[in-house]
Amino acid sequence: MLRLKGGSGAFLIAGPTTVVKIGRGQSGRRKVRHEADFLRWVQDNHPHSPFVEVRQPFGLGRLGVVATRLVHAPSARSLASGGESRLLSAHVTTAARSLAELGVAQRQLCGDNRPALWGQDLLIRRSRLAERIFDDSFLRRSIRSLVDRCSTTTKKDLMVSPFRSVIHGDPHLGNLLLTDNEIAWIDPRGYFDGQRIFDPAYDLGKIAHEAALVRAMGASSSEVRRVERWGRVLFGSYERCWAAVDSTVANRAAYFAAVNLVSALTFGHVQSAPAAREMVDVARNLMETVDVHGGAAVGTWL
Ligand SMILES: Nc1ncnc2c1ncn2[C@@H]1O[C@H](COP(=O)(O)OP(=O)(O)O)[C@@H](O)[C@H]1O
Ligand SMILES: [Mg+2]
Repeated sequence: MLRLKGGSGAFLIAGPTTVVKIGRGQSGRRKVRHEADFLRWVQDNHPHSPFVEVRQPFGLGRLGVVATRLVHAPSARSLASGGESRLLSAHVTTAARSLAELGVAQRQLCGDNRPALWGQDLLIRRSRLAERIFDDSFLRRSIRSLVDRCSTTTKKDLMVSPFRSVIHGDPHLGNLLLTDNEIAWIDPRGYFDGQRIFDPAYDLGKIAHEAALVRAMGASSSEVRRVERWGRVLFGSYERCWAAVDSTVANRAAYFAAVNLVSALTFGHVQSAPAAREMVDVARNLMETVDVHGGAAVGTWL
């Protein structure tokens, strides 16, 4: 038995073939319940998905426990240590593409801006919390102006998402396991707004916000460059698939990246007010680029 470590505070142990994840606290258990439920649903409905295989008796998920197949991940380790190879790059490209292809194939027409409204609501709640955490008047002013800007952007036609689909919800490198011959996305968010499907721009936004977050957390410049490099690969590959059917997906991604940067201020990883201000500046630039330059600006910034 080996104890594994993630970012959520869940308790994880790996056996010879299985990893068991146990949510802690009320919200931790709810998250793992959603994850278990989503993985089971994906497995039953989309047998060739790139999500990790779930193995557990019926009902375990309700307790906030999920058991997944252990993926031995030599490539993932080299990804973490900065190892680079064409093979690895091809794997990361495929990982993003297979996630996006699953989404494109399963997309459902919607044509409303509910995901954006959900994002705006998250931004408002988290910005209130961030203001209390940092207690910095300059930061407060920039957060408030971002919230104002967001309420204008939310109403734009550009923020109407034409489709909802299967998405990961947290597609960062730590949630991607690669071996020489397999890809497995782990740790999906599972539910948004009470539904299993959401705007695919949310996944792209998560990919786009990662580098600024890692920078604000005080990572070394080589680590930031690594996240930027793989972020560009993930973003490009995921976006290419979706842009063919949804021309504004990258614009909306910039919106969700901005929302998630502010949201991340409240997780305790960013400690200094200057680092927080820098994140809000990046968020503001992203929010402004939604309708000015569209997706192209997100790509440049990445
Ligand atoms: N099925 C699995 N196979 C191999 N490693 C795993 C598996 N599930 C989780 N891990 C390892 O445990 C870490 C934390 O798991 P994760 O589900 O992402 O937890 P958290 O929600 O805390 O981020 C992962 O980054 C990975 O290294
Ligand atoms: Mg994780």
